[in-house]
Amino acid sequence: MLKLRVKASREYDIIISRFNGSFPECIFNLKNFKKTAVITDTEVYGRYKNVIDSLSVTNSIYKYVIESGEKSKNGENYLKIINRLAENGFQRHDAVIAFGGGVVGDLAGFVASTYMRGITLISVPTTLLSMVDSSVGGKTAIDLPSGKNLCGTFYQPAAVIIDTAFLDTLPEKEIMNGYGEIIKYALLDKRISVEMLSESADEQLIYNSLCIKRDIVEEDEYESGKRALLNLGHTVGHAVEKLSGYTLSHGECVVKGLKAALDISANLFNLDSGVYNKILSVINSRGHNTSLIYPTEEIVKCIFSDKKSDGDKVRFVALKNIAEPEIVSLKINELNSLLIAKSYN
Ligand SMILES: NC(=O)c1ccc[n+]([C@@H]2O[C@H](COP(=O)([O-])OP(=O)(O)OC[C@H]3O[C@@H](n4cnc5c(N)ncnc54)[C@H](O)[C@@H]3O)[C@@H](O)[C@H]2O)c1
Repeated sequence: MLKLRVKASREYDIIISRFNGSFPECIFNLKNFKKTAVITDTEVYGRYKNVIDSLSVTNSIYKYVIESGEKSKNGENYLKIINRLAENGFQRHDAVIAFGGGVVGDLAGFVASTYMRGITLISVPTTLLSMVDSSVGGKTAIDLPSGKNLCGTFYQPAAVIIDTAFLDTLPEKEIMNGYGEIIKYALLDKRISVEMLSESADEQLIYNSLCIKRDIVEEDEYESGKRALLNLGHTVGHAVEKLSGYTLSHGECVVKGLKAALDISANLFNLDSGVYNKILSVINSRGHNTSLIYPTEEIVKCIFSDKKSDGDKVRFVALKNIAEPEIVSLKINELNSLLIAKSYN
């Protein structure tokens, strides 16, 4: 069992082990709460009903099962759940368990952070992405018709419990989704070596990923500085995801964005060709498609229409080397030419 302490505005532990769905009673400490609401989705509940039901140490576990998928991270479900909490008499000292992937985590986190101005949140991530990414950082959100994640809070959980056995049932597409973020961590920090990327996700890889993200967000909990480094690969990635009308997965687009960041780094900082080729070969060997699909001009236009661009410039995370990221400000024509210019191979 590996344990990671996160020191944010609320301190908490992340516990990582192969529990096989059988959690020691002391891990959840549910007896501390009179009532507990488990929020999950149809897919996860279908597979792990027994595990979820086994959390019921008292008769006061309430279950809220949303349809699986991003469409459920909406205001309607949010209002439905907080109304049900109120009808069932939930008080401030009660708790919410987010039992699922990032969609459940974001929605349940938003519920917990706003119901009675905040009740205890325990997180049980069940996808690789939610284990290595959303477990740290305290971001919660729902989507609005005008865009993804437009309504949310920063809210730290009381505990995160990661059971790697949940990955056994995760489709390969979702595993690759999580790897997009793990590859990003390997480019930002040497605690994940390029060699480790060829291995399957185990406790150690998840732990190292979380350590890297934790160290960044502990320095910048509310995203006013260093946390921008976590956008490596996301500037171009988000644009491709948006242009695809969200038909391409986030992780797939992040990997495309990472390849674009490597190309820009090669042209801007002469990123070593050996490093460049080594990373690309690992990305390719994992089966990721790094083609940007859309014309460069369209991608750049989309980036500059985004709320995060700063007037006529966009802040872009590039690499001088592995573990040497640098934030640069690029104008529209600069970004365009750096993306078009030929890199290695
Ligand atoms: N808060 C944050 O810091 C943060 C970070 C990254 C992403 N996110 C958000 O997370 C969401 C994406 O998360 P995701 O990729 O986990 O998607 P998801 O929650 O939709 O899960 C992906 C699919 O896997 C299924 N699933 C979950 N666990 C499973 C398991 N163990 N076995 C089989 N199937 C399983 C789900 O039902 C779903 O169909 C997005 O909404 C994104 O905005 C939040």
